[in-house]
Amino acid sequence: MADIKKILENMTIREKIGQLSQYDANLFIDTDAAVTGHIEWLGLSDGDLSCVGHVLNFKSPAEMRQIQREHLEKDRNKIPMLFMMDVIHGFRTIYPIPLAMGCSFDPDMVKECSRMTAKEAVRGGVQVTFTPMVDYVRDARWGRVMESTGEDAYLNSVMGAAQVRAFQGDDLSDKENIASCVKHFAAYGGAEAGRDYNTVELSEHTLREHYLPAYKACLDAGAEMIMPSFNTLNGIPSTANSWLMKTILKDEWGFNGIVISDYSAVKELMDHGVAEDGKAAARLAFDNNCDIEMCSAMYFNHLEGLIEEGVFTLEQLDKAVLKVLDLKNRLGMFDDPYRGADKTDIELTPENRDIARRAAENCAVLLKNDGVLPFKKSVTKIAVIGPFADNHNIIGFWSCNGKNEESVTVAEGIKRLLPGAEVTVVRGCGDEWDDTDTSGFDKAVNAAKAADAVVLCLGEPQDYSGEGNSRLELELHKIQLELARAVIDANTNTAVVTFSGRPIVLTELEKAAPAILNMWFPGTEGGTAAANLLFGVANPSGKLSMTFPRATGQCPIYYNHTNIIKYGKSGAHKPYCASYIEHDNLPLYSFGHGLSYSEFVYEGLELSKDSMKADESIEISITVRNASDIAGKETVMLYMCDPVASNARPVQQLIGFKKIYFEPNERKTIKFTVTEPMLRFWNNNNEFVSEPGEFRLSTGYADHLILTKEFVLK
Ligand code: GLC
Repeated sequence: MADIKKILENMTIREKIGQLSQYDANLFIDTDAAVTGHIEWLGLSDGDLSCVGHVLNFKSPAEMRQIQREHLEKDRNKIPMLFMMDVIHGFRTIYPIPLAMGCSFDPDMVKECSRMTAKEAVRGGVQVTFTPMVDYVRDARWGRVMESTGEDAYLNSVMGAAQVRAFQGDDLSDKENIASCVKHFAAYGGAEAGRDYNTVELSEHTLREHYLPAYKACLDAGAEMIMPSFNTLNGIPSTANSWLMKTILKDEWGFNGIVISDYSAVKELMDHGVAEDGKAAARLAFDNNCDIEMCSAMYFNHLEGLIEEGVFTLEQLDKAVLKVLDLKNRLGMFDDPYRGADKTDIELTPENRDIARRAAENCAVLLKNDGVLPFKKSVTKIAVIGPFADNHNIIGFWSCNGKNEESVTVAEGIKRLLPGAEVTVVRGCGDEWDDTDTSGFDKAVNAAKAADAVVLCLGEPQDYSGEGNSRLELELHKIQLELARAVIDANTNTAVVTFSGRPIVLTELEKAAPAILNMWFPGTEGGTAAANLLFGVANPSGKLSMTFPRATGQCPIYYNHTNIIKYGKSGAHKPYCASYIEHDNLPLYSFGHGLSYSEFVYEGLELSKDSMKADESIEISITVRNASDIAGKETVMLYMCDPVASNARPVQQLIGFKKIYFEPNERKTIKFTVTEPMLRFWNNNNEFVSEPGEFRLSTGYADHLILTKEFVLK
């Protein structure tokens, strides 16, 4: 370990500001004019570059080693740089997108994937990951829903904390652990109209109950860093939002870790119109506890002057720099600036591929099955049709050092599983939203006619979700729907496999398809997992972590809404009802929906008592039987409803879940404990309280509750 206080004493102000700056790798290795111009555009000198503290967007461990080596030759203080990356759902081996991981309802699997990833990332030269992203989401038009684990704060909190603990382990000096940076604080997922970077207007009540908890859970799990979001929240950009960055983050949550801006977000305070110039932007960001500026140079260009003018003190600068040096020290960077980075790119391994496969099987959601699935392994002629039949682009938007071409396609997965079968592959149409070319239909229909079983692979391209990729229409592309109708007409023994980075609208497809298996973007082993699920080698167990709308116009749509008066439970539109003229207001598939090849019967829900005081608890027992001869996993969920309170409360609120394995015909009783803090909500006095009265506990899932019991909080 290094004596960081001694290092700090020897540093100039500009060198200290260097430790609060991060730039793209190409600034340090490419010498072409574009990059040089960028340095001038940033207003940086060669001296500045030699003391920059952090790098992102490097391409390989070799590049990391080159940058670090050359930096240490130049840096007077010999302070190693920190290399950070968006390691969102895998590093070299890619597992399903986080929205899919949320559908697993399996924190242990999330931990296993994150542990695998941390080990790969360390060898890839990464010391900090900009993960977990725990933005709460309700609007599928937003492209970054793929990065979140969904529309439930409790689920997001459990999954986010699991990732932090798995990435960081118990000791950052262990070279198999990396530091975690939770993002985007806060409420980026509330972008108006699902349009990325758009305005966010939310009440404190909604922020406190839905949008903030998961960030807090990640910080409580020990996340070393946090990243403010690009968006304005109630008129003020998060990077300069003192309610977020001071009142909540510091005063209330006591966070003393490192705050790093999002990409150029400090400079963008001028674009937002809250800073008249770069100096004002630097002042706003630093005053709101932003320690590291990512990819703009307001700190380099203005922080020294602000200190000289007495706006900030040298002690404030030193405090921020010490946090950075301390993290580098605890990561062991001063002892080994390369920290386990390989000299060459790491390769995929069978062990890690196996983890990715199991994750993809665990995350897939069987949305519909009228009985065609699982296909029999005895089928000899299989037609794999559609734009995703043999498409390698199924690893998702944030795929890090993963390679599309290494993924297993659905067709490949089926061929490997059934080497004796005749597998015919026909794409039939393209995957772009405006594709109109039906010239491939005849070949697809003929292949379907000739087959024993048809796997129809549809969806949206993986670059239609992720950052900056908002969508206006979520409906399955018209040409794919036409292809589906033609193929299903030709052979009703058809199962549809969908690929998407968000809930897409499958309402018309659902009318025609005998079965729909949603794979999301399943990662490197997506095709292997799809084949195993389609042919019963694996049993689907995923449950939706985000609601599927019946039409785009329903967005935002989510399960934990309050009791909308004149809700109109289902069916066609009625006058003076909260439904739409075109159809009812229910989703196509709600949060928690997901079928299995097993048949789980919920036999009983028992409470240890029917009332409790605030300092007591109630034991809940839910008895479930697997009434089939197929082993499988069921996520048993516990929902709470507070039907009368000083605030209108959600009709359902997930307060517990357990994913349980059942042998054929096995019965199990699953236990939960309910305590008073689980019943609290944010009231109109801005207090987090519970109120005495009746509460309902249910199991099943959101709009399909199976058993309910009441109790009274005294
Ligand atoms: C991007 C994203 C953020 C990411 C950062 C670095 O703009 O908003 O999630 O961590 O820049 O790549």
